[in-house]
Amino acid sequence: MPLTVRPIAAHDLDEIRAELDTHWHSNEIWSLGRCHQADALPGFIAEIDGAFAGLVTINLDPGAWQCEVITLSSRSPQHGVGGALLAAAEEFARAHDCGRIYLTTTNDNTHAIRFYQRRGWQFAALHKGIVDRVRKVIPEIPLLGFDGIQVRDEIEFERWLA
Ligand SMILES: CC(C)(COP(=O)(O)OP(=O)(O)OC[C@H]1O[C@@H](n2cnc3c(N)ncnc32)[C@H](O)[C@@H]1OP(=O)(O)O)[C@@H](O)C(=O)NCCC(=O)NCCS
Repeated sequence: MPLTVRPIAAHDLDEIRAELDTHWHSNEIWSLGRCHQADALPGFIAEIDGAFAGLVTINLDPGAWQCEVITLSSRSPQHGVGGALLAAAEEFARAHDCGRIYLTTTNDNTHAIRFYQRRGWQFAALHKGIVDRVRKVIPEIPLLGFDGIQVRDEIEFERWLA
């Protein structure tokens, strides 16, 4: 099963929106109190045998000294898709001369917390209660996440690239 990763192209928009909707029920992704229009971001698509298998979207911070992974998702778990997309995001950061790449995941996502650490990413910060605060403005943000855990906090992971 050949796995390939390529940059997002204009013709991917429908597939991207469907993928974001599957995992986040929206194209607007909140992270660290900021809202990102994820279907307009750069990133990469993974394909297995030419079929869509996963997506990573990335935001370059102002000044481009660091960038943030806004979404990472796999439609084909346990086939190396997530790892390949995360590696592509790191390569994107290096290509843009970023010293740091970071992301957040919510406190309920124990699988992702394990996944990032397995790939050498480190805890950078705990943003305690930030999801609760954003939910006051966007009540559609679900209260319960994976395993019925209340979604309240964002955990920030980072990787220094220098
Ligand atoms: C987190 C997520 C992106 C991981 O994607 P994935 O495609 O399953 O990731 P990988 O296949 O690269 O790695 C998963 C495991 O499969 C294993 N694996 C990789 N290729 C494999 C293969 N060919 N055969 C068997 N196992 C394999 C990996 O070793 C890894 O295990 P490890 O973490 O113990 O090392 C995915 O679970 C997902 O989409 N979650 C929902 C969205 C989400 O929560 N995103 C993160 C929040 S920001």
